[in-house]
Amino acid sequence: MFTRLKQIFVIWLIKKVQKYGPHKVHVSGKTYKVSENVFNPKYYYTSEFMARHIKVTPGDTVLDMGTGSGIQAITAGRTAARVVAVDINPEAVRLAGKNVRDNGVENIVSVIEGDLFSSLSPQHKFSVILFTPPYLEGTPRSFFDNSLFDPQKELVRRFFREAKEYLDPDGYVQMIYSSIAGPEQVISIAGQFGWKHSIIAREKTFTEEFIIYKLTLN
Ligand SMILES: C[S@@+](CC[C@H](N)C(=O)[O-])C[C@H]1O[C@@H](n2cnc3c(N)ncnc32)[C@H](O)[C@@H]1O
Repeated sequence: MFTRLKQIFVIWLIKKVQKYGPHKVHVSGKTYKVSENVFNPKYYYTSEFMARHIKVTPGDTVLDMGTGSGIQAITAGRTAARVVAVDINPEAVRLAGKNVRDNGVENIVSVIEGDLFSSLSPQHKFSVILFTPPYLEGTPRSFFDNSLFDPQKELVRRFFREAKEYLDPDGYVQMIYSSIAGPEQVISIAGQFGWKHSIIAREKTFTEEFIIYKLTLN
């Protein structure tokens, strides 16, 4: 009951920020343009916290699943050899493409529209897959709602089933999740598909605790 109230408060807060927050924001020295329909990386802490814990190397090929403004892809693109960023929201794809160019990483990062892995070929493997999924309970009714809601954790279930085909044997998934959305259930779903997990970082905020997981198949 208390968790559901927290979820309702978080949904209210994010929607207010999306509507009335500034649409050009600065995070860790980079500038990102967003719109009312694209997840704002400044005012919701997951984006910055996840970006701070990206530790890619110059040899890495990275997939940023659910790129939104492109913040994770652009952060990885400062070091990695190649980054592919995917989003289901066409407006996110357009603005992430602009942010990639404005931040000077267009030779490294490409942004494509797709529903999870549907636009990719399993011939292309990645050494790191970054995943910042929606995690609240609710029914998506707009493109923006895809940033918030994952009813019955269907998206994460599909992700862990399909991601196996796109990961290098020694690669890993870096995923952020929230204490108000049943992270133990998500880890159990991942485990059903053979994923092993460890914790990279965790941090408590005013509304919830965020946990960044590393998931591997070996
Ligand atoms: C919580 S937001 C995170 C955005 C960004 N990565 C960040 O850290 O600020 C989740 C993103 O996943 C995208 N998304 C949701 N469902 C998706 C799907 N089936 N395929 C691809 N992207 C999806 C949403 O459109 C949204 O941009």
